[in-house]
Amino acid sequence: MGIKIQITEEKLAKLSASMEKNKLKPGPLMPTLHDAQSIFGCIPIEIQKIIAEGLNESIAKINGVVTFYGNFSVEPKGENVINVCLGTACYVRGSQGLLDAFSDELKLKAGQTSEDGKYTLQATRCIGACGLAPVITVNNQVYGNSTVQKAKEIVAQLRNAS
Ligand code: FES
Repeated sequence: MGIKIQITEEKLAKLSASMEKNKLKPGPLMPTLHDAQSIFGCIPIEIQKIIAEGLNESIAKINGVVTFYGNFSVEPKGENVINVCLGTACYVRGSQGLLDAFSDELKLKAGQTSEDGKYTLQATRCIGACGLAPVITVNNQVYGNSTVQKAKEIVAQLRNAS
């Protein structure tokens, strides 16, 4: 399941330029990964290998960073990205039920992107808005005190808008 990314010569040239520029500064890895994420829309293993060679780092380290930070992704994301917080405050207020509701509606498990590239469903760690638990974000917009009903409405809205 999921969508394919295009690794073109032009994009690879941009990545090389980013590595050359960032190598001149201390700590070139994070800025290079940010550039790679925006150039390719994700940082799959083939791109991680190129960065490892270019910056003289181990692939294990790069893979660890890419998979740890929520702003990087190994697979391409859909046009609409839905995040359900499974941090403690949200979890105790029922966020697993919200995740299940999105899963049912979109026929996706957490971490998956639909075949048509329209939706990505993700479970996240605490996003720092615990006072609004349970929290979901849709395309970076935060919805606090969310309910299963709200989750269904959001999916209906996204479908109508596409
Ligand atoms: S636990 Fe969900 S925002 Fe903190």
